[in-house]
Amino acid sequence: MPVIEKAKTLIWFAQRPSYWRHAVALARRKFGEDFDSPALQAEASQWASERTVSVAEALTSLGFLSAGNRPPEIEQGVLLRAHESARQSKVAMGGAGDIGLLYAATVLSGTRTAIETGVAYGWSSLAILAGLDTREGALLISVDMPYPKMDNEAFVGVAVPDELRVGWLLVREPDRRGVEKAIEMAGRSVDLVHYDSDKSYQGRAYAYPLLWDALRTGGVFISDDIGDNLAFRDFMAHQRVPFAVTCFEGKHVGIARKHDSSVEFRSK
Ligand SMILES: C[S@@+](CC[C@H](N)C(=O)[O-])C[C@H]1O[C@@H](n2cnc3c(N)ncnc32)[C@H](O)[C@@H]1O
Repeated sequence: MPVIEKAKTLIWFAQRPSYWRHAVALARRKFGEDFDSPALQAEASQWASERTVSVAEALTSLGFLSAGNRPPEIEQGVLLRAHESARQSKVAMGGAGDIGLLYAATVLSGTRTAIETGVAYGWSSLAILAGLDTREGALLISVDMPYPKMDNEAFVGVAVPDELRVGWLLVREPDRRGVEKAIEMAGRSVDLVHYDSDKSYQGRAYAYPLLWDALRTGGVFISDDIGDNLAFRDFMAHQRVPFAVTCFEGKHVGIARKHDSSVEFRSK
């Protein structure tokens, strides 16, 4: 990165105290061991590919769906309106999570309280909100740090239609602090977690255990892009719980169900 751009980035972070913990973590990562090297990514991608099953098989293997049944699907009209809103925003943001898996997992688990990290256009937010148990008090808390210097804050969550925004809280902060804040807001008990923000090994090693601890027994844990590094594989090895891997638009998604047998996962 040219010196002027580096200086601009430094000033951008300096002006935002809520980003300082995130900035320190980035600096540490830069000078520490590389857990996201191409070799480790290749290993993670192969590990995930070897385990990939369909969404229906994943939900069945975790006990959310009866064998031979089809997962519930999100209403097409909602998606069409969301595509139109996203098209009109004309900004470039991160790619969508697996809407089909998220919607079905939310409905089938009877989720009333969920936390997700990483919003961008808000496809995953839309899917979770559309699937929430609609009794009063249902809640999705989303944590999102808009990309530095991109000026896209106004468009974060643009795909979420107005009628689904009741019961949606957006914490506009980096995971470091934002995740802890979201867990407090959720009363430290969550039915479903979706992780789709900081994809580095260290980012996941920080947030996975916090989110996992907040998940109720029997709750659903979903993480995007698990083929980027070995964090999901290592986390599952420590938790020793049932999990499955699906594939959405070439990216691997991990889904697990929390059982009582959790053991601690140490952050690197
Ligand atoms: C891949 S996009 C999320 C896509 C979204 N889940 C969907 O399905 O539409 C990743 C988002 O996470 C945000 N993000 C990246 N690193 C983050 C961090 N450390 N803390 C919070 N948000 C972060 C990005 O700004 C971006 O909005």
